[in-house]
Amino acid sequence: MASIRNISILLFLVLGIANAKGNTNQQAKQPIQTFRPYNLAHRGACGEIPEETTHAYLRAIEIGADFIEADILASKDGQLVCFHDVTLDDTTDVKNRTEFSNRKRTYEVERVNVTGYFVVDFTLEELKSLKVNQRYSFRDQQYNGKYSIITFEEYITIALYADRTVGIYPEIKNPVHVNEHVKWSNGKNFEVIFVEILLKYGYNGTYLSESWLKQPIFIQCFAPSSLIYLSNKTDSPKVFLIDDVSVRTQDTNQSYAEITSDSYLSYISQYVVGIGPWKDTVVPPINNHLTPPTDLVARAHALNLEVHPYTFRNENKYLPFDFHQDPYQEFDYWINQIGVDGLFTDFTGSFYLYQEHTSVPGTHITLS
Ligand SMILES: *[C@@H]1O[C@H](CO)[C@@H](O)[C@H](O)[C@H]1NC(C)=O
Ligand SMILES: *[C@@H]1O[C@H](CO)[C@@H](O)[C@H](O)[C@H]1NC(C)=O
Ligand SMILES: *[C@@H]1O[C@H](CO)[C@@H](O)[C@H](O)[C@H]1NC(C)=O
Ligand SMILES: *[C@@H]1O[C@H](CO)[C@@H](O)[C@H](O)[C@H]1NC(C)=O
Ligand SMILES: *[C@@H]1O[C@H](CO)[C@@H](O)[C@H](O)[C@H]1NC(C)=O
Repeated sequence: MASIRNISILLFLVLGIANAKGNTNQQAKQPIQTFRPYNLAHRGACGEIPEETTHAYLRAIEIGADFIEADILASKDGQLVCFHDVTLDDTTDVKNRTEFSNRKRTYEVERVNVTGYFVVDFTLEELKSLKVNQRYSFRDQQYNGKYSIITFEEYITIALYADRTVGIYPEIKNPVHVNEHVKWSNGKNFEVIFVEILLKYGYNGTYLSESWLKQPIFIQCFAPSSLIYLSNKTDSPKVFLIDDVSVRTQDTNQSYAEITSDSYLSYISQYVVGIGPWKDTVVPPINNHLTPPTDLVARAHALNLEVHPYTFRNENKYLPFDFHQDPYQEFDYWINQIGVDGLFTDFTGSFYLYQEHTSVPGTHITLS
């Protein structure tokens, strides 16, 4: 079910009329809600439609996203694209494309040797010729082969042309790897190119400022050096992502214990407005049962940091037994017991309906 508005966004994208700031009549739109935790559409409505495609984002907007989330990588020719993995193998048809069979490489990425077809080895034109597939075999396969990879600018355009104010939540993905393999003119790096695009489209306001409310954004990254480096280049709010307890930071090789210590959280809070922890680090499960929550959320809140955990998925295999196989109960626990400020979900529609059922009367969000 595509609304007229969505069809016009599609036309803009197909015809390539992506306009910079000023043409989207932000004032007249329904504002972003800020009275309840944010509904962060993880890779668009990727529970239904292949991730990070135009259709996944349009669907997420249709079913209630406050923010659409994307992973930003760079092509060989320096163009920024929305794609999650550093390799194309798992979610595109690249392996079927004989003309690319000599592109397979092995690179060390975050201290692990990875073999496959790397995004950084393909030009934008080549990336655009690939088709995106559903990542998980247990999800709907009917859209496989139908949609293409989109650019960072196309993704921004989707948000700016939505019929209500929808935020963006782009991740500077694997910056160490990207800067190692992709070179830009004038010695610019990935982070600078990323911010130049945001500024071109008018994103540059401190959290909850008037300009932020018109064009809401959170910049996210697992690499703390990239966020700190950008602190003087954009006012847009930044969120520090935190991985599983066993994973060290991409750039600074710090452990989970180091980056979640009070002193480190206090240090990073000069540069970021929040943290985005993997949910199992907040409430560690054992044998698919919850154990008592750690104090990470309380300690982050004490420093005035927002907490946006990831990733909430409706399927039984992702739901701890404590929730009786009911995703609403999981949302309820995280919103009302843990007290998070937003959450990343593959199923934005479910979280939207949960919040509509439980919101204070008179504060509902209207979807077209
Ligand atoms: C490769 O092509 C075959 C035959 O058309 C198809 O069944 C398969 O799904 C394709 N693989 C990918 C990864 O797209
Ligand atoms: C990756 O492979 C290279 C070449 O075989 C090797 O020298 C290097 O130690 C490997 N790195 C890791 C992290 O395993
Ligand atoms: C971003 O906003 C800050 C504060 O308002 C301002 O100093 C800076 O010049 C802005 N940057 C751009 C590129 O507009
Ligand atoms: C930001 O700019 C100030 C003033 O020029 C400087 O002291 C500071 O080191 C800069 N911060 C970063 C992270 O580059
Ligand atoms: C990262 O830190 C661990 C633990 O201190 C250490 O064993 C490892 O050698 C470090 N890796 C690099 C690349 O510095």
